[in-house]
Amino acid sequence: MRVFVLAGSSRSGSVNRQLASYVAGLVTQAGPAVDLAHLADFPMPAYDGDAEAGQGPPPAAAALRDRIEAAQALVIASPEYNASVPGVLKNAVDWVSRFRPQPFKDKQTLLVSASPSMVGGNRGLWALRVPLEHLGARVYPDMFSLAGAHHAFTEQGGLADAGLAQRLTETVDAFLDLVEADTRYLCLQRR
Ligand code: FNR
Repeated sequence: MRVFVLAGSSRSGSVNRQLASYVAGLVTQAGPAVDLAHLADFPMPAYDGDAEAGQGPPPAAAALRDRIEAAQALVIASPEYNASVPGVLKNAVDWVSRFRPQPFKDKQTLLVSASPSMVGGNRGLWALRVPLEHLGARVYPDMFSLAGAHHAFTEQGGLADAGLAQRLTETVDAFLDLVEADTRYLCLQRR
């Protein structure tokens, strides 16, 4: 099984990149292969219907599509901007949604967020659920939001709070159990 973990921020010092790396480590511990990336790996222009009609989606959108398609599951670590999903991440979702077959369809997806604020970016995740569920992604009901994220990580990249670390591990493990059961079911169906 392969899991694609995407940090929805381009910033080099991003707390969501830290969270994505931490989650990637949990996934590796649990067994599946991990592909870790962040939005800066996929620089793309703002969606433009004329550009799409002329040249099609940009190469970075195709590259992101390929990485999503190559995995059985997707984890997105997203910042919250103005109580919603950051425009750059929504833009990436919009471009990728233009491919056929539509890459988010039936994709098992876990959403996590990190923010220096007290709510940890949770409102952004609720906003991100809307387009993903619209596109047919199977967005895991439980989400994880890391509050006070600028002080939450140790120098080694671990989570300083043992209780939070345990909750995140349990969330990731439960999500991976579901993905594994789903993958097994699909294999049986194809026989
Ligand atoms: C923010 N930030 C923010 N944080 C939050 O918890 N709720 C919010 O509504 C917002 N709004 C917001 C808008 C804009 C335009 C910016 C630039 C920032 C702060 C944000 O959580 C913080 O910058 C994080 O560090 C961003 O995540 P990364 O890039 O560190 O992963």
